[in-house]
Amino acid sequence: MKALILVGGFGTRLRPLTLSFPKPLVDFANKPMILHQIEALKDVGVTEVVLAINYRPEVMLNFLKDFEDKLGIKITCSQETEPLGTAGPLALARDRLMDGSGEPFFVLNSDVISEYPFAELIQFHKSHGGEATIMVTKVDEPSKYGVVVMDESGKVDRFVEKPKVFVGNKINAGIYLLNPSVLDRIELRPTSIEKEVFPKIAADQKLYAMVLPGFWMDIGQPKDYITGLRLYLESLRKKASSKLATGSHIVGNVLVHENAVIGEGCLIGPDVAIGPGCVIESGVRLSRCTVMRGVRIKMHACVSSSIIGWHSTVGQWARIENMTILGEDVHVSDEIYSNGGVVLPHKEIKSSILKPEIVM
Ligand code: GDD
Ligand code: MG
Repeated sequence: MKALILVGGFGTRLRPLTLSFPKPLVDFANKPMILHQIEALKDVGVTEVVLAINYRPEVMLNFLKDFEDKLGIKITCSQETEPLGTAGPLALARDRLMDGSGEPFFVLNSDVISEYPFAELIQFHKSHGGEATIMVTKVDEPSKYGVVVMDESGKVDRFVEKPKVFVGNKINAGIYLLNPSVLDRIELRPTSIEKEVFPKIAADQKLYAMVLPGFWMDIGQPKDYITGLRLYLESLRKKASSKLATGSHIVGNVLVHENAVIGEGCLIGPDVAIGPGCVIESGVRLSRCTVMRGVRIKMHACVSSSIIGWHSTVGQWARIENMTILGEDVHVSDEIYSNGGVVLPHKEIKSSILKPEIVM
């Protein structure tokens, strides 16, 4: 089977992290976002992943070359010369997706995290005889997503992208299994699968939806990224709790990379991910945060509800909180307070950031 991941876009909502790496390569739970998806695809027998990309393909490919060998999966890029939206890239990659087997293929939005229940998706798709299956999940605020109205069998009655009035609370999770015949419905031009393709398949009564088991989150914005980590770690607790850290200094669900060093008297958790090569000095307090590869948190600093980008340092007795996002290689001096500062890469922070603001 094959899969296409929609990778395009600049990931502006996840700046300053995406100033250093394309969004799919931003680490989530100690691993680039896209690797979570590729590994899960591989587990259900996908042999080739096509990355539909319109921005810096060389960075992605260089990075993923390593994983092609490690995972034994083919990874290729399909590059657009202009952004083709969420459907156009399928037309562009048509020849790669049609391998003559007649098998359905996966399409994923690159910024969604879940347990990726692909085996269940395949099973459901084969059972209904329609042309396409989308996974859906319930949310409290459906207006920022694509909303799906379906019957008990899963047949989709309506698909409404970003509805202005309430139509339902089951939303498109950005995970699809499509028959090759769907490609005959898509022209090679900028076009939206949500606005132009799904409504038509639904009108032909050939679009089905399946409620996704387990958690789901679009992690393309800092607040949702932090919530997503909480949900991911909660699911890890149920499925593979041995991967989580233990000890008297750990509270709740915490992921610590084996190469990270943690000093005496720290209190870490809940909902924390500490990446490879990090040094957490003594007496540090971390909660609801991500500390990316190569970071040093100095003595007695306190970090909560924040993301600390690659190779940054946080000074001793500093207090970093309220959705502070430090880009790559940011250095925060001792005793600084950051309340929601969004700091661009390679900056030095020598005075406190008292209210949420962007530091250029
Ligand atoms: N190759 C390519 N080219 N990819 C693109 C382009 C493009 O021109 N435009 C967007 N994408 C990719 C994005 O990188 C992302 O992986 C995916 O398509 C969806 O785009 P977003 O910009 O993240 O859309 P959204 O979050 O507002 O809405 C989408 O996702 C929701 C779930 O998170 C829709 O699919 C909604 O229906 C859905 O509910
Ligand atoms: Mg999105």
